[in-house]
Amino acid sequence: MARILITSALPYINGIKHLGNLVGSQLPADLYARYNRGRGHEVMFLCATDEHGTPAELAAAKAGKPVADYCAEMHEVQADIAKRFGLSFDHYGRSSSPQNHALTQHFAGKLEEAGLITEVSEKQVYSNADGRFLPDRYIEGTCPNCGFEKARGDQCEECTKQLDPTDLINPRSAISGSTDLEVRETKHLFLRQSAMRDQLDQWIDSKTDWPVLTTSIAKKWLHDGDGLQDRGITRDLDWGIAVKKGTEDWPGMEGKVFYVWFDAPIEYIAAAGEWAEAHGKSDADWERWWRTDKGADNVKYVQFMGKDNVPFHTLSFPATLLGSGEPWKMVDHLKSFNYLNYDGGQFSTSQGRGVFMDQALEILPSDYWRWWLLSHAPESSDAEFTWENFQQSVNKDLADVLGNFVSRITKFCRSKFGEQVPEGGAWGEQEQALIEELSTRIGAYERHMEAMEVRKSAQELRAIWVAGNEYLQSAAPWSVFKEDPERAAGQVRLGLNLIRLYAVLSAPFIPDASDRLFEALGTEDRDWPEDVAAALAALPAGHAFTVPEVLFAKITDEQREEWQARFAGGRDA
Ligand code: MF3
Ligand code: ZN
Repeated sequence: MARILITSALPYINGIKHLGNLVGSQLPADLYARYNRGRGHEVMFLCATDEHGTPAELAAAKAGKPVADYCAEMHEVQADIAKRFGLSFDHYGRSSSPQNHALTQHFAGKLEEAGLITEVSEKQVYSNADGRFLPDRYIEGTCPNCGFEKARGDQCEECTKQLDPTDLINPRSAISGSTDLEVRETKHLFLRQSAMRDQLDQWIDSKTDWPVLTTSIAKKWLHDGDGLQDRGITRDLDWGIAVKKGTEDWPGMEGKVFYVWFDAPIEYIAAAGEWAEAHGKSDADWERWWRTDKGADNVKYVQFMGKDNVPFHTLSFPATLLGSGEPWKMVDHLKSFNYLNYDGGQFSTSQGRGVFMDQALEILPSDYWRWWLLSHAPESSDAEFTWENFQQSVNKDLADVLGNFVSRITKFCRSKFGEQVPEGGAWGEQEQALIEELSTRIGAYERHMEAMEVRKSAQELRAIWVAGNEYLQSAAPWSVFKEDPERAAGQVRLGLNLIRLYAVLSAPFIPDASDRLFEALGTEDRDWPEDVAAALAALPAGHAFTVPEVLFAKITDEQREEWQARFAGGRDA
């Protein structure tokens, strides 16, 4: 039994996430967590809301609420939706937790002791038209690296380069569009990432199994001229984690807070502390996941995120951990995703474009979405959601292939043998061939899952469902029954056991449907098949079952058109 620590990029607190956000981090992380639990491994799956920074302040102001109240409410909203999507976090924390305050201040103190923090008199952009300092992401301009004209002051979304607002060419306020900006002096702390370049380089080199998308982005920022600049880790804001060295005040830093990208990844660790507190556990219980001197040396740590998050997870956060000089668990495998587009354009939170998690669940249960999103995950390139494609996958894969198989077998059995697994009828060549095909395919499915190849895993699972359908089609127990009811009984017994096997294998993708299958089959035997022949004998003759309700309903053309029209206009603000 292995121990696997899984984190998904922390969703920003401001607003409900769209399906593009979901498929780029939380959903594949959940797939991997469920798969590993299914294999009997010990899993710790952590996520949290990312609550600091200007976006939270501005969203709260817009909602007319104190920012602490706004965050507390939005956290509940997001936690509820995550649960309804079947995201099986062991803990869903908050980056504003007391644990994260203490840990972030602790790290800053350690980095200071290690000589990795410098105080810099920084020039910060003040907007006369807006009457305020502009935080990085509220300054827009042309990217000095790639020329993209709408680069933000913290990062260029086009080429993923991390930026400082003063790098931008032709800067303007993203709030008012005003170019009447002036630069004022203020003191800030900087993390000397440049001093850790060799250490980071070596660490990245040791990760030989990282996907190319991840390594190439990391290496690019490590080696491209000014790639690894020292980064400001404090801000002039009210809402956030007060700048302290451990528990001590930091002279000259009064009234300032840590930058959101400094404290957010630290919440991955703090969330484990929150988990321990919520379950009445000790510090040792969470430290065995995070401290290599306290048991985490045999933990496998996997992170899931969209590609824009990669630099922060391959450079900035590792710099914090390595720089502390303490034995913190570092990421072993980092799985990153491209973008999912929506119907010919981008999903956009600010423009309300696309389908948002709450809206998706108003239309259809989560499994429909989970299946489409995961089987179309933007892995090797960007992917696109269209209503036609969604309708087609749901109707074919879920309704025609899986749903139909379940319904045919259970109904046929009920009509000929009653609602129990029939006895008699030994298995012959055809059954042996199916068992062999399934063994090969399940092996491939496991390898893809372990490699976090999401699309390939989905394809293999679908092929496993198809194999059952094809067997049923050619075995044709409904015709065999007339001549040889004994043989038909054997075929049906295999079919019913195949449903249980499908419920086990499909649970990571479609957990609710899987639960319904176990319920209909009247079994809680969810053991992963080590041997296919043995797994297909799990439900013995005489075992009672019930015919489940329709597993997946088809999406009609009318529904598809209605949804298409409903979402064309964007979300009401
Ligand atoms: N909130 C960020 C985003 O949505 C991700 C933060 S990941 C963390 O892009 F590691 F910093 F927490
Ligand atoms: Zn750029």
